[in-house]
Amino acid sequence: MPYIEYLDLPLIPENLIPPLSETLQQLPTAGTAASQHTNSLTPDSFSFLFKVVSPELESWIKSIFPYEITIKFNLIKHTLPIHKDVLRDIGYNYILDPGGPNVSTNIYADDGSLLQSEVIQPHRWIKLEVSYFHGIHDIDPNLVRRLISVTPMSSAHEAQWPPIIWPGRKLVGPPGVEPGTKGL
Ligand SMILES: [Fe+2]
Repeated sequence: MPYIEYLDLPLIPENLIPPLSETLQQLPTAGTAASQHTNSLTPDSFSFLFKVVSPELESWIKSIFPYEITIKFNLIKHTLPIHKDVLRDIGYNYILDPGGPNVSTNIYADDGSLLQSEVIQPHRWIKLEVSYFHGIHDIDPNLVRRLISVTPMSSAHEAQWPPIIWPGRKLVGPPGVEPGTKGL
């Protein structure tokens, strides 16, 4: 069973994709409701989901999915700790900016064994089994990984709290920064 799978869906038209600088300017402010999925909002390390999708982009994406979905941007700088998502079982992602040439997405079994590792190509739709442990590795510290994350409503559920974190392993973060524990 593939845990990361490329999908044969139409590619997002370039004219609907805002520049990275524009998305970065819309970062939510720490402590606000919009930052609730934030791991950290320091300038050097962050990872979170937030919605700044334009109406045009939102309606285009909704036109290619035959069921109800929610759409958010996902911005990651430095790292994404290994976690299980707390709000959904399946995510459909479309990487706009990979954050480096060799950024890998890894899926792990509960016993820690590696199930799948992929350097996901940008500008492709993929399906990700986010109810398994997963993490992002080797993001260039000078770059930001930006992707569009689509959640089918049938995959979404109430958040479990506390979230499920990689057992026996401390979350990885840059020196002096303690990542939050909220999965994305
Ligand atoms: Fe996740």
